[in-house]
Amino acid sequence: MGMLVNLRDWIDARFPMTKMWDEHLAKYYAPKNFNFWYFFGSLALMVLVIQIISGIFLTMNYKPDATQAFASVEYIMRDVDWGWLIRYIHSTGASAFFIVVYLHMFRGLLYGSYRGPRELIWLFGMMIFLALMAEAFFGYLLPWGQMSYWGAQVIISLFGAIPVIGDDLSLWIRGDYVISDVTLNRFFALHVIAVPLVLIALVVMHILALHEVGSNNPDGVEIKKHKDENGIPLDGIPFHPYYSVKDIVGVVVFLMFFSIVIFFVPEGGGYFLEKPNFEPANPLKTPEHIAPVWYFTPYYAMLRAVTIDIGPFTAKFLGVVVMGGAVVILFFLPWLDKSPAKSIRYRGPIYKTMLTLFVIAFAVLGWLGTQAPTDTKTMMAQIGTVVYFAFFLGMPIYSRIDKTKPVPDRVTG
Ligand code: HEM
Repeated sequence: MGMLVNLRDWIDARFPMTKMWDEHLAKYYAPKNFNFWYFFGSLALMVLVIQIISGIFLTMNYKPDATQAFASVEYIMRDVDWGWLIRYIHSTGASAFFIVVYLHMFRGLLYGSYRGPRELIWLFGMMIFLALMAEAFFGYLLPWGQMSYWGAQVIISLFGAIPVIGDDLSLWIRGDYVISDVTLNRFFALHVIAVPLVLIALVVMHILALHEVGSNNPDGVEIKKHKDENGIPLDGIPFHPYYSVKDIVGVVVFLMFFSIVIFFVPEGGGYFLEKPNFEPANPLKTPEHIAPVWYFTPYYAMLRAVTIDIGPFTAKFLGVVVMGGAVVILFFLPWLDKSPAKSIRYRGPIYKTMLTLFVIAFAVLGWLGTQAPTDTKTMMAQIGTVVYFAFFLGMPIYSRIDKTKPVPDRVTG
């Protein structure tokens, strides 16, 4: 023990080890009333680590070359020791990442976590979300299957719909007149190093911003308003050991579900690994039905919901604007919400109704995005899109007039 204490003191004299431990863990006070919804931040962190580690091992045998990529993935699946497991961890991990992050973001909507003073936590979160979508998109091209190829074709062609610069822009993204080996190589560079670096940097800033202001909680009250004589929040408990241990419970439960999927349904019924992607990319054969992976389908449905040209703008371009707007509008959430209460516990019936409709619209849009369009389905997607935007654009009005309950001064249990 004595030696360990000496080692600690030796390090502390040269590096702020204990200082950082205390500031971010042992003396970081978090509200004592965290619930289920507060597991997903630490889970997102763990899934990020899982993706990076499994990705490093995939890279050891993957070949970013249009003539070899597909076969190298099959080689990983069949011949590399534990290769199938590494690949399923990574491909299922991508879907798990989005499940966890969507639930994490939904917690923000439940408890108004994006509201002042946590606007920057939210904005960094939204940048993480953008980076995560880019990361998933670039990664999906790498196995060079039919859906990799044609999915990328559809998305890159969307940039082509932008007036004036569109054609040059999509040419610049592909680096070629068609999706080719050049495209595959740059997507590999972006997926394996560029975007992960950005993601890690953003996550660090996300957590630094969080630790600057402290966590919100299911009551949406500020625990820093009531401190004891030592300056410790009365409703706070040290993150370590209380929440470090609690988060391990979340990790274990998560890993149980994750293992069940990896070992028994790794393809997620075609939702985590799409069926056409078991065929090598063929530029001469368009798949009958092109759909992105489930986590993009709500936005894809909104893109396809726009069917009319307006003035000089094509329906395709307007669809791109609507799809982009659906993500961009989330950045503005902290300033759209005017409610006197942060938490859903004290909000009125209008917010509860709007949030329920929003969740239903998002889920239905997600389903519609997996389906081939018909007249009825397009109309449903249009209604879903209107509900989606109404949640945000109506918020400055309905959050003001909604009948809230009185917010307590301290956390309630
Ligand atoms: C790689 C992705 C992400 C990681 C690793 C991550 C990590 C974390 C962690 C560890 C926490 C504290 C624990 C918790 O409150 O659950 C947190 C809080 C938070 N995150 Fe994230 N996050 C990620 C993505 C996002 C995204 C996409 C958003 C929203 C756009 C977001 C918004 C927030 C907010 C608002 C809080 C504070 C919540 C509160 O105090 O009530 N995060 N995040």
